[in-house]
Amino acid sequence: MAIIEQIESVSYKILADQSLLIKTMFYYYGRKKQIVKYYPDPNFDSIIEPFAGSAAYSLHEDNWKKNVILIEKDERVASLWEWLIAKATPEEILRMPDLEIGEKSSEFLHIIHAATKMAFQYRTIKITPVLARNWSISKRYIANNLFKVKHWQIICGDYTEAPDIEATWFIDPPYRKESGKGYRYGSDRLDYKSLAEWALKRKGEIICCEGEYGDYLPFQPLRNSKGVAGKMSKEVIFYKSPIKENQLTLFRFG
Ligand SMILES: C[S@@+](CC[C@H](N)C(=O)[O-])C[C@H]1O[C@@H](n2cnc3c(N)ncnc32)[C@H](O)[C@@H]1O
Repeated sequence: MAIIEQIESVSYKILADQSLLIKTMFYYYGRKKQIVKYYPDPNFDSIIEPFAGSAAYSLHEDNWKKNVILIEKDERVASLWEWLIAKATPEEILRMPDLEIGEKSSEFLHIIHAATKMAFQYRTIKITPVLARNWSISKRYIANNLFKVKHWQIICGDYTEAPDIEATWFIDPPYRKESGKGYRYGSDRLDYKSLAEWALKRKGEIICCEGEYGDYLPFQPLRNSKGVAGKMSKEVIFYKSPIKENQLTLFRFG
């Protein structure tokens, strides 16, 4: 095999291997990709993510097979889900071009792959090597995993508009203070006391995520996670489930 062909085949393999590591349909600031495996498994037939983002928990392992309902207030993110659920096909996604470093894009789906929360503020972005690589990996992941979301539902609206049904509620709002800023609807727009009251009234079980300033529920340490640019951040959890045996698994996380 010619050297060029060998290099191409090796880089293709690396890309394919990396795509296996991706666990969300698109890159998203604050996604739970790295730590999703430490949260309790769902005990109910429905999973509701009232702060959807890229919905890492619903895509984790076999969770996607459940009746998944997403709620997302940012219309751009909700529209992306609407398209993935109702319209997009793997062929259409694979036909989307790779991005050239230095060119500009105004597509939200491209912009969120910039690996920075500042991306939420941009209308147009200049393609960096990181963005081009993230997009190329995501595109293949989306095409291969699209079938998992075709039975899901997305509601564009406030978390309080979620249906009042028995479910596993994965509640991952923008975290309090600085780390939850930057989203179009960020921590400065949330009333955390009302969120806590609402969460405690859900039917089924609740898994609530927060960071170091989470104080509106009796959170317990989950673990420290490596965030964007290798920065360590503290993750805490509040888990309330009527299924006693599973509550005991909380000690695994302490
Ligand atoms: C921390 S992110 C969720 C990350 C998600 N778990 C993931 O794996 O990608 C929080 C999300 O909540 C959305 N959001 C903020 N305020 C909201 C509200 N009042 N109702 C619904 N969604 C909201 C933000 O737009 C953002 O997408």
